[in-house]
Amino acid sequence: MSPNNSSKPHWRPALPSDLDAISAIATQIHPDLPERAEVLAEKMRLCPDGCRVLVAGDEIVGYGLSHPWMRHRIPPLDDFLEALPDDADCFYVHDVAVLAGSRGGAARAYVAGIEDLARSSGIATLALVSVYATRPLWQRLGFRALAADAELRAKLASYGAGATYMLRNLTAA
Ligand SMILES: CC(C)(COP(=O)(O)OP(=O)(O)OC[C@H]1O[C@@H](n2cnc3c(N)ncnc32)[C@H](O)[C@@H]1OP(=O)(O)O)[C@@H](O)C(=O)NCCC(=O)NCCS
Repeated sequence: MSPNNSSKPHWRPALPSDLDAISAIATQIHPDLPERAEVLAEKMRLCPDGCRVLVAGDEIVGYGLSHPWMRHRIPPLDDFLEALPDDADCFYVHDVAVLAGSRGGAARAYVAGIEDLARSSGIATLALVSVYATRPLWQRLGFRALAADAELRAKLASYGAGATYMLRNLTAA
């Protein structure tokens, strides 16, 4: 292995002990969409396979949190899921956040991992809420925006202006 390989960012499963680092990155990257550490911890506990950290050398430089969920149901921000649905029909990508210096390929690699996880769970759809101006990025990764009716718009309210609910069909090419 070349010396560079050890510092090349790579995704690994998140451990409970990663919570402080995840929460610190969330606070830094999402100052206007704050979530309590306990809320993030619950997702890690409910779906450890979907919650991953991006590691560069010894540093955690990003995280991704995903879990099985129901299409068209949008978990409110900064609130507990309580439990995962028994009849989940999508994997919901709650958040992907990467420190600026480690961006470039990170979201693509994380989503590829969640795609594999969804497929192996018999789930054929990925879902997310795009915030800020990330819609073109998610489109690039195969997600498509849903035309939001009044009910969907109300559910999106806690995610800020411009939030867009998007789905990716894994059975499409
Ligand atoms: C969102 C975020 C995780 C993306 O990380 P990243 O490593 O830069 O993402 P990637 O490079 O894997 O981007 C995925 C694809 O989108 C493309 N892309 C990036 N920005 C784009 C844009 N503005 N328009 C169109 N495509 C874009 C990339 O080129 C890449 O495509 P490619 O693999 O074919 O080249 C990172 O920018 C971030 O942490 N942002 C702040 C937090 C945030 O907004 N999270 C999302 C909440 S919904």
